[in-house]
Amino acid sequence: MSEITFPPAEPKNNNYQPYYRRLVALKNHGNYKDWPQEVKDGIDHVIKLIDARENYVEDVCSKPGKVLAEISEFTETTDWAELHKSGKTTCLLPSSMLTGHVEGLFLKFLVSMQQAKYVLDIGMFTGYSALSMAEALPADGKVFTCDREQYLADLNRKVFDSSPHGKKIEIRLGDVGDTLKALAKDGVQIDFVFLDAGAEKYGEYFDFLLDKNILAPRGTIAVDNTLWFGRSYLEHENHRAKFNKKITEDRRVQQVLLPVRDGIMLIRRTGDVDGQV
Ligand SMILES: C[S@@+](CC[C@H](N)C(=O)[O-])C[C@H]1O[C@@H](n2cnc3c(N)ncnc32)[C@H](O)[C@@H]1O
Repeated sequence: MSEITFPPAEPKNNNYQPYYRRLVALKNHGNYKDWPQEVKDGIDHVIKLIDARENYVEDVCSKPGKVLAEISEFTETTDWAELHKSGKTTCLLPSSMLTGHVEGLFLKFLVSMQQAKYVLDIGMFTGYSALSMAEALPADGKVFTCDREQYLADLNRKVFDSSPHGKKIEIRLGDVGDTLKALAKDGVQIDFVFLDAGAEKYGEYFDFLLDKNILAPRGTIAVDNTLWFGRSYLEHENHRAKFNKKITEDRRVQQVLLPVRDGIMLIRRTGDVDGQV
């Protein structure tokens, strides 16, 4: 059998699974029209099954509130390429970066179950994860959300202020590394961290969070895109795969990788008693 590789085609959808992307890519194969009808029907059937599963999950999950729904709508309808071209954003920000409905809700549940008071959202984009997590906090709780794009900071402040949970959100404009240093300097302790920006430096950020005790003793770090469209397990020399390996070898923590969306890894310090988390 030939080696399994990362699917080359970039289908116009936000499904992160490499098998789905491979199937969609097959439909663009040069000789596709000449393939047996039974094979083509089979491919269509599997694509429909996967779509139906995704849609079912979305339908069954609790619906997002008004402001979260507006954030999704805005993110998907904005011309991000034009904003970048006109110099409003320093980087091209694809709408597919949005955490969105199911993952946002999952984060909200985790923050609530953690009974967190202080949350750190690394990578704000249009604010979906920040506001989702703020919804789970008590009135005196706080989400520090960090991004380097001035455009997003200006935009999101207005959006957050239109939500009853917006006053719990503090935007930290600047590089992730600088934000982490400032939090350490201020002696802030965080109960729940969502790591979703600057993937090349995840290992550095992770060490800093633990070494400087920014992460509260019973706190949790949730790391996004740990499967990275399949690249983490189909290739091994990329930064995400290396980060995952680093975590598996770190005796200070225990971790669980959940195949939600593009893979969310939950990390907690290992307890004092053997096996405790
Ligand atoms: C994947 S998006 C975050 C998505 C967001 N969590 C959500 O719920 O939709 C990553 C964001 O991080 C920002 N970013 C990337 N690298 C950064 C860095 N080194 N420092 C600060 N922000 C960064 C980008 O501008 C982008 O808005």
